[in-house]
Amino acid sequence: MELSIDRLTKQYQNKIAVDRISLRLNTGIYGLLGANGAGKTTLMRMVCGILKPTSGTITFDGIDVSEERYRSMLGYLPQDFGYYPEFTGEDFLLYMAALKGMRKPQARRKTVELLKLVSLHDVAKKKIKTYSGGMKQRLGIAQALLNQPKILVLDEPTAGLDPKERVRFRDLIKDLGKDSIVLLSTHIVSDIEHIADDILMMKSGQLIYQGKWTDKSGNLEEFYLKQFEEIE
Ligand SMILES: Nc1ncnc2c1ncn2[C@@H]1O[C@H](COP(=O)(O)OP(=O)(O)O)[C@@H](O)[C@H]1O
Ligand SMILES: [Mg+2]
Repeated sequence: MELSIDRLTKQYQNKIAVDRISLRLNTGIYGLLGANGAGKTTLMRMVCGILKPTSGTITFDGIDVSEERYRSMLGYLPQDFGYYPEFTGEDFLLYMAALKGMRKPQARRKTVELLKLVSLHDVAKKKIKTYSGGMKQRLGIAQALLNQPKILVLDEPTAGLDPKERVRFRDLIKDLGKDSIVLLSTHIVSDIEHIADDILMMKSGQLIYQGKWTDKSGNLEEFYLKQFEEIE
C-alpha cells in the first residue's frame, strides 16, 4: 500500500499554498504539523481529490486521485465539518452511509459497529446539538470510517477539544494506523507526539521535516518551535 505524492503544488492567484511536496506514505499514522496558513488543508484537499493541483500528481498504488476507485478507498474528516444539529448521531451515520452509496443492511450494521467504536452508542438516539465538541469529532471520525477506508484523512480533528477529550481521541486513532494510511493534521505537537509513526512538518507550503520521531530524537515541541524561530 503506497500513497505517492509527486512534486505537488497549489497556487492561488499570487499565493503558493503548497510548494512542490513529494512524499511516499505507507500504512501507519502520519502527523502533519504546521502553523495556521502552512498549507495543511490545501494539501489534504488535494490528497482527497476535491482540489485540483496546479501541478504534480497523487496516486495510490498506481490509481490517480481523480478516479472513482480512489474515492471509494478514502475517508475524510474536513476541518470545518458540517453536522446536522437536529439529526441524531445514528441518523447522521445512516445518512452519510446512504450518500456513500452503501446498502441499508450494511449501513445499519456498520453504524452500530462504529458508534460502539467511537463510544457514542449510549447517545446514538440523542440529537447532535446536545453533543460536546469531542463527541462531534468522534462522530466525524465514525462517518469517515464507514467505507473501511485505506486512506484516512483527518484535518485538525482535535481542534476545540479539552484535554480529556484529546486523550480519548488519541486512544481511538492509535489502532487505525495498523492497516490503513492515516494522515492527521494539527498545530499541537502533543496531539501526535505519542501516536504518530511519522512526523511531517509544513511551513509556508513546504515540507520542512519528514521522518520518524522517537524519544531519542529529543523534544518534538522544541524542535517544532525552532523551525519558526529561524525565520524571525
Ligand atoms: N481558496 C483560497 N484562495 C486563496 N488563498 C487561499 C485559499 N485557501 C487557502 N489559501 C491560502 O493558502 C495558505 C494555506 O492555507 P491552508 O491550506 O488553509 O493552511 P492550513 O490548513 O495549514 O492553516 C494560506 O495562506 C491561505 O490564506
Ligand atoms: Mg487548515
